[in-house]
Amino acid sequence: MRHRQRGWTQMIGQLRLDDHLQRYTETAPHALAVAAAVDAIATAAIEIAGLIASGDLADASGLTTGRNSDGDLQRDLDVHADAILRRCLGRLPIAALASEEMREAQIVDRHGRICIAIDPLDGSSNIDINMTVGTIFSILPAPDDLSLAFQQRGSAQLAAGFVTYGPQTSLVLTLGDGVDIFTLDRKAGCFRLARSAVQISETCEEFAINASNRRHWDPPVRAFIDECLAGVEGPANHDFNMRWIGSLVAEAYRILTRGGVFLYPSDARPGYGDGRLRLVYEAHPMAMIIEQAGGSASTGRERVLELSAQSLHQRVPLIMGSSNEVRRAEELHCDPLLVASVSAPLFARRGFFRL
Ligand code: AHG
Ligand code: MN
Ligand code: MN
Repeated sequence: MRHRQRGWTQMIGQLRLDDHLQRYTETAPHALAVAAAVDAIATAAIEIAGLIASGDLADASGLTTGRNSDGDLQRDLDVHADAILRRCLGRLPIAALASEEMREAQIVDRHGRICIAIDPLDGSSNIDINMTVGTIFSILPAPDDLSLAFQQRGSAQLAAGFVTYGPQTSLVLTLGDGVDIFTLDRKAGCFRLARSAVQISETCEEFAINASNRRHWDPPVRAFIDECLAGVEGPANHDFNMRWIGSLVAEAYRILTRGGVFLYPSDARPGYGDGRLRLVYEAHPMAMIIEQAGGSASTGRERVLELSAQSLHQRVPLIMGSSNEVRRAEELHCDPLLVASVSAPLFARRGFFRL
């Protein structure tokens, strides 16, 4: 049932996140549990935002304290953010909780109706340079067999969202009925509606990829980026600009604001055979948000929301944003010439032949 109120625009700056969640609770049996979880994440986000805003003055910094279970450098603030989120969520009857900072998922309450996966702090490498970082969350129904909690398809998600800790602290949320953005009213200490029913433009003039990895990419990815670089002189027929922030949440927020296409593909570097982003707590929630806003999210070959994880920290290639550009990238991934070159050792990743 669409709980979306008609004519939301006059609610901009007025509607509080907690009122929005209250309305949603009347729509479905799990809605109460989902609303309580989003409210808890919003509470944690306000505390995390305060820590981040204090930078080196706070006792949580960008200093590295070790490595997480996925082998990524673990920073002080990763650990703090994870602890704050788990404390706020710990008060709720959640069936299972998973985090980038936890080796395995945790069964919390066998009678809980929902399961939650979080990336407590996304874009950690940006902490000590004062750039936007964020928190990403995915909310799933609790299956009968809780050991399968995080092996569900992305399309099973009940809700997804992310928080950006940047010039504004904003919470981007989908409850399965469109995407809304709530911005923290610091004086009142609550999130207020800033944008409702956000839509991504079908085509775009901005691509985002870590171009330093070009020599490691598969030919379809090189061909797509080369088309973007060829601009109006190539098949794209228009010029592109490029951005790369190093925080998935910031790239997603920009795409929700002015369109764009983001790529973190698989590449030939050791450990990057499936790219860098994790399916359960980065790609799945982002894919739900991007599709709910009218965009597309693909591996280049498959729709991300069709996928289910075999392991908690499993990685997946991600191409997301304006649907025209995602579709073009998928076409190139199906191009027999380019596909053949991926498997043919001579042309593949050693880069003997520029495509
Ligand atoms: P996290 O900090 O949670 O590990 O996520 C970082 C991710 C993502 O936010 C960003 O798009 C990507 O890593 C940047 O990767 P590179 O540093 O390889 O460009
Ligand atoms: Mn991340
Ligand atoms: Mn992270």
